[in-house]
Amino acid sequence: MDFKVQTTELEALATAGADALIVVLGGDSLPEGLDAAVAKHAQAAIKLGDFSLKAGQAITLTQPDGLKASRLVLAASGKTTLAAARAALAAGLAQVKSRGVAHAAVVFAGFDTALGEALAEQTTIAATDTVYVYRHTKPSAPAAPKLAKLTLLAAKAAVKEARAGLARGQAIAAGIELARECANRPANHATPTYLGQVVQQLGKTHGLKVEVMDRKAVEKLGMGSFLAVAQGSDEPLRFIVARYDGAPKSVAPVVLVGKGITFDTGGISLKPGAEMDEMKFDMGGAASVIGTLRAVAELKPKINLVVIVAACENMPSGNAVKPGDVVTSMSGQTIEILNTDAEGRLILCDALTYAERFKPAVVVDVATLTGACVIALGGVRSGMYASDDELAAALAAAGDAALDPCWRMPLDDDYAEGLKSNFADVPNIAGRAGGSITAAKFLQRFASKYRWGHLDIAGTAWKGGAAKGATGRPVGLLTHFVLGQSR
Ligand code: BES
Ligand code: MN
Ligand code: ZN
Repeated sequence: MDFKVQTTELEALATAGADALIVVLGGDSLPEGLDAAVAKHAQAAIKLGDFSLKAGQAITLTQPDGLKASRLVLAASGKTTLAAARAALAAGLAQVKSRGVAHAAVVFAGFDTALGEALAEQTTIAATDTVYVYRHTKPSAPAAPKLAKLTLLAAKAAVKEARAGLARGQAIAAGIELARECANRPANHATPTYLGQVVQQLGKTHGLKVEVMDRKAVEKLGMGSFLAVAQGSDEPLRFIVARYDGAPKSVAPVVLVGKGITFDTGGISLKPGAEMDEMKFDMGGAASVIGTLRAVAELKPKINLVVIVAACENMPSGNAVKPGDVVTSMSGQTIEILNTDAEGRLILCDALTYAERFKPAVVVDVATLTGACVIALGGVRSGMYASDDELAAALAAAGDAALDPCWRMPLDDDYAEGLKSNFADVPNIAGRAGGSITAAKFLQRFASKYRWGHLDIAGTAWKGGAAKGATGRPVGLLTHFVLGQSR
């Protein structure tokens, strides 16, 4: 989509030319200084009982008197928070989605000017989301909405912030879209090999260093745990490493690690059949770090970023790893695999050990790791773990700023009580209680050499039911986090 910022004062919205003028109204009365014609239409609609300033209310007026735009869309946010504004904008965009609107002008009225940059960012993300249609394996999907151009109207005093927010939002939106495209593709399309090709292509486009390793290379590295998960599948594994160098070599990089299980059957500890198709989304962590790489490569901040993806399938077969098998991880620690369905941690532990070689400033891994996290936090907030309070605060703040929130979970050593094995240094599961936390405690054993964060996105990476599909989360959180690490 084509995005632009145009200087237009709130008093002069009538002059804005577009197929639709979307006015997002914050607060419980019409904002002061609102264009007289817009205010007149809003008051009339309110008087008729067709519209109110309550959150969720939206209305379209065609050929509105006194306005240059062909349609006037009013969308109320009630509260004047960023989240309320985004929800109202989404309602406004939904009004024009299935209409003949190719060019929309958007303006926020009644919001604190301090929100300007974030509102611009969210506008691009929401608009990109509105027109997204998955069609890779469904060419018959309905045509994408006509909306192709969006002009954000900003007062002269707010144009600079609007431009900055728009640029950041466009990069994040492109990252989210890439993550969704990867994750929505079924497992017979989005294979480990395919993920490697996507990153290689990103590398070509943006001049990144990319290395895609096969089984032989992974064997050489001694990743016995990753190999154990991959051994039951005929689909070749990939270990993908990409670097964005925006700062001098002497600057320690941020490292992001993504779980790339392109399909999780559970292995010999086979999952039940119901909804097993959704396990094609089990590479959502990988998709999100790849999407973040794209966003960062477009924004070119002065930082160094390394993105690591461990990708394979988790399948049952005659070659598959069995409950009770003991493997030796790259770290040297032996692992008793008591449940082959706890495979995410088995591929991540070796990737976390591999990350040591970058002498990282911080490592954050991202994984659709546990059903327990879905039970704990649902689909609203990702589970967040951090080795120190400063990192936890940075991840939480990044999530809030991006409207891609997370919630800190505990890492008390007492939670590792159940991680004891008579046959190896550590088993890959503990009891049922606190399943997201015990998974994090397992990973922590392999992340002792650097500051470490972990995002359990099992509840947030995709939606089930009628709206089944990848969300692209947490690309927003991660991009904000990475940008925040440049200094
Ligand atoms: N990919 C799943 C986690 C998952 C399950 C994400 C449901 C989203 C929805 C992961 O590999 C897994 O199977 N975890 C097990 C761990 C258990 C065996 C300790 C789980 O959560 O049941
Ligand atoms: Mn599993
Ligand atoms: Zn899994």
